[in-house]
Amino acid sequence: MRVVGIESSCDETAVAVFDTARGLLSHRLFSQVALHQAYGGVVPEIASRDHVRRLLPLLREALSAARSAPADIDGVAYTAGPGLIGALLVGASFARCLAYAWGRPAVGIHHLEGHLLAPLLEPDPPAFPFLALLVSGGHTQLVDVLGVGSYRILGQTLDDAAGEAFDKTAKMLGLPYPGGAALASLAESGRSERHRFPRPMLDRPGLDFSFSGLKTAALVALRGRALDEAARADVARGFEDAVVDTLVEKSRRALHAVGRRRLVVAGGVGANRRLRERLTGMAHEAGAQVYFPRIEFCTDNGAMIALAGALRLAMGERQGLTIDARANWELGDVAAGY
Ligand code: KG4
Ligand code: ZN
Repeated sequence: MRVVGIESSCDETAVAVFDTARGLLSHRLFSQVALHQAYGGVVPEIASRDHVRRLLPLLREALSAARSAPADIDGVAYTAGPGLIGALLVGASFARCLAYAWGRPAVGIHHLEGHLLAPLLEPDPPAFPFLALLVSGGHTQLVDVLGVGSYRILGQTLDDAAGEAFDKTAKMLGLPYPGGAALASLAESGRSERHRFPRPMLDRPGLDFSFSGLKTAALVALRGRALDEAARADVARGFEDAVVDTLVEKSRRALHAVGRRRLVVAGGVGANRRLRERLTGMAHEAGAQVYFPRIEFCTDNGAMIALAGALRLAMGERQGLTIDARANWELGDVAAGY
């Protein structure tokens, strides 16, 4: 089964072609980051309009790189939510119409399902069941994954997502949006002993997270002071250490709580080098194995949507002619939604 996957939930337009027998055949992505940078965040209307501009050229490129004609395609998968509703509607209408014109089935995919299945695109994929740590700009969750469509949320953030906390703290440090990766590289030269920020929720049982207090602690460390590069790097390091410690410790507890031996890390913050190193070390000590998508598939992409769509279509799932776009959609409701 050969499936086109389309992602347009936020500020990346992406198209990929995945084949269940041959793997990923092609993927193309246009990032709108430069368009939104002047505003310090994603402007929904600008995002929607640019998706309209990019989708068709990206589809043509992806098909040609996959050496595929429309007749070779067995289905079309698209991100149906959660995300910016206008941006989602562009991708969903495009994908649904494409499937209709080609006389093929379409399937709407939960964006986070895409993220947590992304490690299956790698050469040594994890077997089900596994524990997933989803850390993106919009979500921070620990999910017990029993199979495709079978997701149990074990814990999640009560306020800001980890990526959101990275982005907001980066902004305070004067770094351009989205600042997660820039903050991480600034932290490379910072000293970890200079700031000991709180490790939110580690003193309590349960697997939920909270990152808004940490952002405030960083603000207090920065306030009223003209800090040079080295001092800003110390704050970045203190912040990154606190987020990483929290994510690693909660993941360790979750592995133990559900008795899993495989940990999948997904979402944009999964690109963080220190987090990857620390999770690998923790998993090793816990007798577990950790699986990461390659860096470019940690952040939003079409490959993960094509893969999730191919798995669902191969399981016989079919959707009607509805254009499915939902700004809010809980991952725990996914299986029941179909
Ligand atoms: O998964 P993603 O591309 O989009 C959402 O679905 O939210 O994640 C984007 C998030 C942003 O908050 C970005 O700052 C963060 O991932 N991010 C990082 C790194 N690279 C991207 N955060 C920390 N360290 C990084 N290296
Ligand atoms: Zn995402």
